[in-house]
Amino acid sequence: MHPQPSAEDIRELLGRHLHLEGPLLPILHDIQNSFGFVPQTAVPVIAEALNLSVAEVTGVIGFYHDFRKAPAGRHVLKLCRAEACQSMGSEVLAARILSLLGVDWHGTTTDGRITVEPVYCLGLCACAPAAMLDGRVHGALTEARAQRLVEALA
Ligand code: FES
Repeated sequence: MHPQPSAEDIRELLGRHLHLEGPLLPILHDIQNSFGFVPQTAVPVIAEALNLSVAEVTGVIGFYHDFRKAPAGRHVLKLCRAEACQSMGSEVLAARILSLLGVDWHGTTTDGRITVEPVYCLGLCACAPAAMLDGRVHGALTEARAQRLVEALA
């Protein structure tokens, strides 16, 4: 479980990147690696330090699917939504898994067990549809296999 960052934590982390030419993405990645998500409270602190507007920072966070706005569950299931997986039925599969877990994309089950996120190609196109569960890839996913994977999680 990651700690909740304070504004002071964010300022300290910012200091490691301000010398870089394009510091925003490294800052956001560092915040997410350190705290598990990029909290809304970090946005004005970052904006002020980089002389950007809050809207600009918010826009960048929203553009990249990897940045989380809330802490993830104990497990993270990334389902591929890119073309090869789509052609092999990934959207139907994803809809069933989301429905089974009672969440939408980026949602976390009420018990905090699983967060489901989209990903756009895992490099496993030949084994589509593909997914990644807690950093481990799974190819040729069927609804039954996906169901077994998520049901086995504590
Ligand atoms: S399109 Fe899904 S792994 Fe490449």
